[in-house]
Amino acid sequence: MPPPHDLQGLTPEALAAFRSVANTHACPEVMRYLEQMEQRHSTIEATLTEARHAPLYSVQRTTHGTLYEGNALTYMQQQTAGSLDLIMTSPPFGLVRKKAYGNAAAEEYCDWFRPFAMEMYRLLSDTGSLVIDIGGSWEKGQPTRSLYHYDLLVMLVREFGFYLCLEHYWFSPSKLPSPAEWVTIRRIRPKDAVNCVWWLSKTPFPKASNKRVLSPYSDSMENLLRKGYEGRKRPSGHDISERFSERQQGAIPSNLLAIANTESSSHYSAYCREHGYPIHPARFPAKLPEYFIRMLTDPGDQVFDPFAGSFLTGRVCEELGRKWAGTEVQRDYIQGALSRFAPDAPNVLRYDKTTYALPGPCAFGNTDDVPLVPDGGRHRANKRPASVDAADEDAEDETGQKESRHEL
Ligand SMILES: C[S@@+](CC[C@H](N)C(=O)[O-])C[C@H]1O[C@@H](n2cnc3c(N)ncnc32)[C@H](O)[C@@H]1O
Repeated sequence: MPPPHDLQGLTPEALAAFRSVANTHACPEVMRYLEQMEQRHSTIEATLTEARHAPLYSVQRTTHGTLYEGNALTYMQQQTAGSLDLIMTSPPFGLVRKKAYGNAAAEEYCDWFRPFAMEMYRLLSDTGSLVIDIGGSWEKGQPTRSLYHYDLLVMLVREFGFYLCLEHYWFSPSKLPSPAEWVTIRRIRPKDAVNCVWWLSKTPFPKASNKRVLSPYSDSMENLLRKGYEGRKRPSGHDISERFSERQQGAIPSNLLAIANTESSSHYSAYCREHGYPIHPARFPAKLPEYFIRMLTDPGDQVFDPFAGSFLTGRVCEELGRKWAGTEVQRDYIQGALSRFAPDAPNVLRYDKTTYALPGPCAFGNTDDVPLVPDGGRHRANKRPASVDAADEDAEDETGQKESRHEL
């Protein structure tokens, strides 16, 4: 088939390349694909232009950083390319229920994120890292999951050229079961107790050292270190040398980060309560930014949190001697966050050797006498059967995740 009129000047090789790219984006028509790209590009440009002219206030300077009130895109466009060593953040999630801070709906998430991704890529140094903590989300009215956070990851890698260094999972041992409708009422899903944390970079070799973030040894490893280990080949084929049983400072951590959230009784929460400021409902625990900041930056490096919320990243940087900046659109959240930088504010970083024993599933032998939930849980048990539509309506109300993930 001859190429459409507007593509006639292209060499056959260029046309083939366009066709191939268009196909990978599920858009076999090259012209249609180019129109979509053009549309996408002008949307990003319009968003960036609007943000460029928006107000941005420097609310407070601290020893190492600054709290800004305003759109992250406004701040980012004022910064020099390659000036950031780490972007550590937790953006608004694509949750079923819109939160007070206005997260984009799951399906629009990538569109919403693109201008941020473009600026993140420009600002990050070649040795720097981008770390995004992002929780999963349920499809509206049914017990299935949105792919929005995986779409985000794929977009960042395929469209923007980031490398995925290692996906991490933040496991919250004290996470409440939610959504209650699927987990505790219909009993058709286990509880979701992990957040994905995407660690990305602009080159395959950002600066990093796992020696900075060691874990305590497990009891079995302690045993082995006491008794010694005879080097041999394991059934898996791994050749484990005797050096395996040499005591180091600690164990190399895995990408499953078990961190409880113990901030509810914090100085920050007490200050917010006392002054009538909203306590940020989606804070991450201090150990999460601490882990990445220690592993990926040196003292004096520049860290940025575009979606700063309660400015926990900033507080952690302050304690670790990293330079930092954070932007937050909601003034209410900033007012509460200022307490973190008051002269009497206690440190948020604590050092203990907490170890979590994760109970294994299937602890009760044969359970086949428990019937599987009929209909896969389409209807609530012991309830007047409802039409599918009504059940969906029900579910929509009952499955909006209470954002308990960071709030215990
Ligand atoms: C998940 S919260 C971050 C919480 C933070 N990690 C903490 O521990 O407190 C996301 C924050 O991003 C803010 N936000 C959303 N869009 C923004 C934007 N364009 N610029 C700056 N902040 C934004 C929201 O108001 C919300 O407070």
